[in-house]
Amino acid sequence: MDADITLFVDGTEHRLTVDTRTTVLDALRERLGITSAKKGCDHGQCGACTVLLEDRRVNSCLMPAVAYDGACLRTADGLGEPHPVQREFIRHDAFQCGYCTPGQVVSAVAAVEELKAGEPSAVTAEGADLDGEIRERMSGNICRCGAYANIVRAVTEAVT
Ligand code: FES
Repeated sequence: MDADITLFVDGTEHRLTVDTRTTVLDALRERLGITSAKKGCDHGQCGACTVLLEDRRVNSCLMPAVAYDGACLRTADGLGEPHPVQREFIRHDAFQCGYCTPGQVVSAVAAVEELKAGEPSAVTAEGADLDGEIRERMSGNICRCGAYANIVRAVTEAVT
């Protein structure tokens, strides 16, 4: 069964007809040609498909597109060229193969905004330092190459 939906992606309105089984990730990649969000596990476990929904990071592979009719999404494509967080990723060599990087960057943008706003996390109550805060907030994004140390450095620079 098909449904007509509207998605606002990186400030642009898109009207499309999708099969009701289509995920937001597939709508972005296959229907709109917005390919920064990657398909890794397709099961909500790797974070490669991370996008921002109302400034909150979400796994777009788990989101039925029909349930997000009218949603405003931000992807790595729309962050700006380059976003300060992207600059820090480049400066600190925070990637290797690069497949997970758009999802990492999107998560990092949200983490930086949360940390700058003083938004507490689960580990804040336990007295975690900034390094621990960043690791906790970035824990939904897997990097198979293991660039975690440099990712944390890049996010730290973007926060401070
Ligand atoms: Fe969505 Fe892995 S592809 S979490």
